[in-house]
Amino acid sequence: METIFSGIQPSGTLTLGNYLGAIQQFVELQNDNDCYFCIVDEHAITVPQERLKLRSNIRSLAALYIASGIDPETSTLFVQSEVPAHTQLGWMLQSISYIGELERMTQYKDKSAGKEAISSALLTYPSLMAADILLYNTNIVPVGDDQKQHLELTRDLAGRFNNRFNDIFTIPDIRIPKVGARIMSLQEPMKKMSKSDENEKGFISMLDEPKKIEKKIKSAVTDSEGIVKYDKENKPGVSNLLTIYSSCTGESIKSLEAKYEGKGYGDFKQGVANAVIETLKPIQDRYAELINSVKLDDILDQGAEKASFTANKTVAKAKKAMGL
Ligand code: ADP
Ligand code: NA
Repeated sequence: METIFSGIQPSGTLTLGNYLGAIQQFVELQNDNDCYFCIVDEHAITVPQERLKLRSNIRSLAALYIASGIDPETSTLFVQSEVPAHTQLGWMLQSISYIGELERMTQYKDKSAGKEAISSALLTYPSLMAADILLYNTNIVPVGDDQKQHLELTRDLAGRFNNRFNDIFTIPDIRIPKVGARIMSLQEPMKKMSKSDENEKGFISMLDEPKKIEKKIKSAVTDSEGIVKYDKENKPGVSNLLTIYSSCTGESIKSLEAKYEGKGYGDFKQGVANAVIETLKPIQDRYAELINSVKLDDILDQGAEKASFTANKTVAKAKKAMGL
């Protein structure tokens, strides 16, 4: 039994990328492990958010976690800002983080590129993410591969703290799914699919209606070759659709290539669309039942209480180690 922690930002409706890269593996892991799944709202405010929208995104993300199969009886599901230990340890870890190493984070470079008013929290957010993980004596962090660099930093900070003060942190390992670690944009297949994409046709939201899903997949960028074959370098669009298809159905990419041999992209895209719709439809139905239920509030209250219990113990140890 391992301790697992992972978080998702409530910065918009989750995409198929979030589902296949993150949530799908959370569901697999929850039965045999001690799991903490967090709605990281304090990460979301590193860029401007609208108050009411953020509120509703937090609730919507909680409902999506549960609708996707996260069982709040088995796993601890909670909102980051409801557990003050996160910012407490986050600050302590910021004090041992170097500006240089934070500035090297590619996500920071991407998100700050061309912007004028960049919040200092956008830069220091990986230190808070390290705190999120280290508070629970986490062994394994299941994430998409865009989080590799942040996880490396988490490991560095844990080691640095242990060396400098006292050996209190477990050094966590990353777990990246074999297929689906990086779902790409449907319009720009060299870019990852993201809920913050300005082009709505580039991503599939987990709550998109079947008709919309079909339309987006049909207009996905491919190539003019007409051959369904996995080749990430030369056929990024088709390869991305194969990855999506395979992660939705569990069918191997090899067998999908065989299935669509001699067939055009029209048939193939219809197959991808069906696979995605069949994956998301049951989640959407459960979501509709959950979203307005008061049960959701109780679940989050209980989650925050459970998380605080462990997190506060870690903060007490860290304070003592630092002399606070
Ligand atoms: P986003 O990047 O969409 O704002 P988050 O930063 O909240 O999402 O990421 C939540 C989780 O989803 C992380 O584990 C991240 O690695 C994973 N993830 C995000 N986008 C993708 C993608 N396109 N493919 C696979 N996994 C992804
Ligand atoms: Na991300």
